Amino acid sequence: MNTDNDSRRALAGRRLVLGLSGGIACYKSAELLRLLVKAGADVQVVMTEGAAQFITPVTMQALSNREVFLSTWDARAPNNMAHINLSREADALLVAPASADFIARLAQGRADDLLSLLCLARPPGLCPLLLAPAMNREMWAHPATQRNVAQVAADGARVLGVGSGEQACGETGDGRMLEPEELLDELVAFFQPKVLAGKTVLITAGPTFEPIDPVRGITNHSSGKMGFAMARAAREAGADVTLVAGPVHLPTPRGVRRIDVQTAQQMYDAVVPRAAAHEIFIATAAVADWRPASASDQKLKKDGSGRCPDIGFAENPDILAAVARLPRPPFCVGFAAESHDLLAHARAKRERKGVPLLVGNLGPATFGRDDNALLLVDANGHAELPEGASQGARADKLALARRLMGEIARRLASETA
Ligand code: C5P
Repeated sequence: MNTDNDSRRALAGRRLVLGLSGGIACYKSAELLRLLVKAGADVQVVMTEGAAQFITPVTMQALSNREVFLSTWDARAPNNMAHINLSREADALLVAPASADFIARLAQGRADDLLSLLCLARPPGLCPLLLAPAMNREMWAHPATQRNVAQVAADGARVLGVGSGEQACGETGDGRMLEPEELLDELVAFFQPKVLAGKTVLITAGPTFEPIDPVRGITNHSSGKMGFAMARAAREAGADVTLVAGPVHLPTPRGVRRIDVQTAQQMYDAVVPRAAAHEIFIATAAVADWRPASASDQKLKKDGSGRCPDIGFAENPDILAAVARLPRPPFCVGFAAESHDLLAHARAKRERKGVPLLVGNLGPATFGRDDNALLLVDANGHAELPEGASQGARADKLALARRLMGEIARRLASETA
């Protein structure tokens, strides 16, 4: 299982069947297999005859360190029932690529090769089925394919969607298989507990940038990593997530809606009108307290006199406090980056902002880093994440964000009970 300090081995202990049906995307499945194994999964590969036209079983055997299954009539299993054994031994079955023909056969409940037989024979509660479709854009858009996709989804398969762009046939459009990294993320997300299923979550992240003139401005060292980890963890937990991000160089977590802003005022304008429509608001952004009172529209120049420009400041609106003061506010979670006396400052900040949960961390020990140590402060007291944080224990930000989702879900449930 995943541990606090090692979310890179996010599939450790998971037993997977990776099925390949025939399509040019099979070449990407070799890379996917490598990523799954690297993430700690134990992977058994099953290929259709079509798949073996595109990539050899030898490649997949070498990467999985297991013999590949190809045929219903494979006599290696003592009971001669590979389709039963494989599906009983797996935590999930991922078919990548899932060709148009393979999805059509699944929709009909056919079982004329080992992979489709395996899909039909699996106990759905014990061995969920995930499909990564891959095909030409016309094949994907065809009503027959869309009908079949809807049917297999209604029958309980999780269809992971398709990518868009250039296709092997030279055409451009929807239907590409998701990239191996995206499929890995989808699989990791699939195994996370759905503690926020159906909830709407609004998150701020990153620094803000307050312009002085067209080329300069005031910002801070926030990298946005904690906020982006929170957005990813919220989505993995089943929530519908909107992320309002200051200027950061981070990719948008899969399935998260992102709104980019620069200044605190823009962040306020993006957040406050939307907040009431959300059940949870998490303010991880390091918002500038002040902005230059009036940004110059031309670059400020030295005039040789030795005099510095007289930049007056104006206070920025407090986004978190404004959301917490709404007539029917979402469940609000604030963050505090302090340099010392974390508990005292975090308690005071929770009171001042009027929020049920405040998460404290030490600024210099979190900005730009991949790990963190948190102090959770609510009306009942405080708790460390990870345990032993005050003795120096730390954990990676994604692992912490996942645990925070559990903490938020628990508090939200008791508030609405
Ligand atoms: O007041 P301070 O910046 O220390 O408070 C930190 C918390 O308040 C964070 O959750 C931050 O995102 C939020 N905040 C805000 N708007 C501001 C300042 C801080 O939402 N203008």
